[in-house]
Amino acid sequence: MRSFLGRDILSLKDFGREEYFRIFEVADELEPIARNRRNSNMLAEKTLVTAFYQPSTRTRLAHEAAMHRLGGHVTGFSDAKMTRAGDFYQESIKDTVRMLEYYGDAIVMRHFQQGAPQEAARWSSVPVINAGDGWGEHPTQVLTDLYTILNEKGTLDGLNFLLIGDMRMRTMHSISYAMSQFDINAMYVSPPNMSLTDDFKQELVNLNLNFRELEHVEQGIAEADVIYMEPVVQPDYTKSRDERSGKEGFTPDNYRVTKELMRKAPQDSIILHSLPRMDELPAEVDDTRHARYWIEAFNGVVVRMALLALVLGAME
Ligand code: CP
Repeated sequence: MRSFLGRDILSLKDFGREEYFRIFEVADELEPIARNRRNSNMLAEKTLVTAFYQPSTRTRLAHEAAMHRLGGHVTGFSDAKMTRAGDFYQESIKDTVRMLEYYGDAIVMRHFQQGAPQEAARWSSVPVINAGDGWGEHPTQVLTDLYTILNEKGTLDGLNFLLIGDMRMRTMHSISYAMSQFDINAMYVSPPNMSLTDDFKQELVNLNLNFRELEHVEQGIAEADVIYMEPVVQPDYTKSRDERSGKEGFTPDNYRVTKELMRKAPQDSIILHSLPRMDELPAEVDDTRHARYWIEAFNGVVVRMALLALVLGAME
C-alpha cells in the first residue's frame, strides 16, 4: 500500500481497497476525540491552508474542525473575491499556490474548474486535497460516505446502492470509482439530461462495476441497502457562485425519496445525502430509522481528521 505521507488527495480513481480501510482504521482511532468534543495536540506544529473558490458549509468547516481537533492551525480564504485570484488581477492557480505553500503544510482546495486541484498540485510542494472541483470529483465527501456505510452496515461488500440525482455531479464520479473496489451493485436514477455520460459509463465498464440505469426510484427501492442522494435541482457547479433565480421548479417524483416511498424499502436500508438538499429529500424523512445524513456530517470531521493525520505524518 502506498504511504499517505505527503500525498495529494485529488481523486478516488487511483485508490485501492486497502487504502480505504487504512483511512477508516485511523478514523476509528481518532473518533473518540471528536465524539468527546476534545482537542488533541497531534498536529500542533502544522497549519492547513483552505483555498475555497466556491461556497461551502460542510467541506471547509469539517476540514477546519478536523485540524482544530488535532491541535493544528488553519488559515486561508472562503471567498476568492477577497483575494487577487478573484479581483482585477485574476491571479493564476500557479501563482496563488506558490504563495499558499509558504503559509501552511497542506492545502485543501475547492474550485469551480474541473482539474484545478490537480493544477495546484503541479506547483505545490505541500500536499493538495481536492474539496470538490467543478463536475470533477469530491473524494473527501465520498470517503466520509463510505466510512458511514461501513459503520452503519458493518460491511462495504454485498450491498445494493440506489444512486439518485445528477450523475454529472462530482460526488457521483467519486462514489462510482470507490464502488468499483467493493462488491457493490449500483442502480443509477437520474433525469435523462443528467444521466451518466457515455465516456463515464465506459470507464465504469472498464472498472468492472456492476451497474444499471433506472428511470424511477420505485424501480430500485425494494432492493436498496444504501440510498445515495444528490439534488437534481441544483446550481451550475462550473460557476464560482450561482444564485437561485426562482425558475428552477420542483424535483419530479422519479428522483424524490419520501416517507411513503421508504415503506417499500428494506427495513434496514439507510439514506445518505451529502447536503445541502432541495425538495428531493423532504424533512419528514429525517425522523425515520433510515436517515443517516446527520451522522454522515459528524463522520465528515472524523474522516478529515484521519486524512490530515495521515497526509501530515502524525499517523503512519
Ligand atoms: N457536501 C458538501 O460538499 O457540502 P458543502 O458544499 O457545504 O461543502
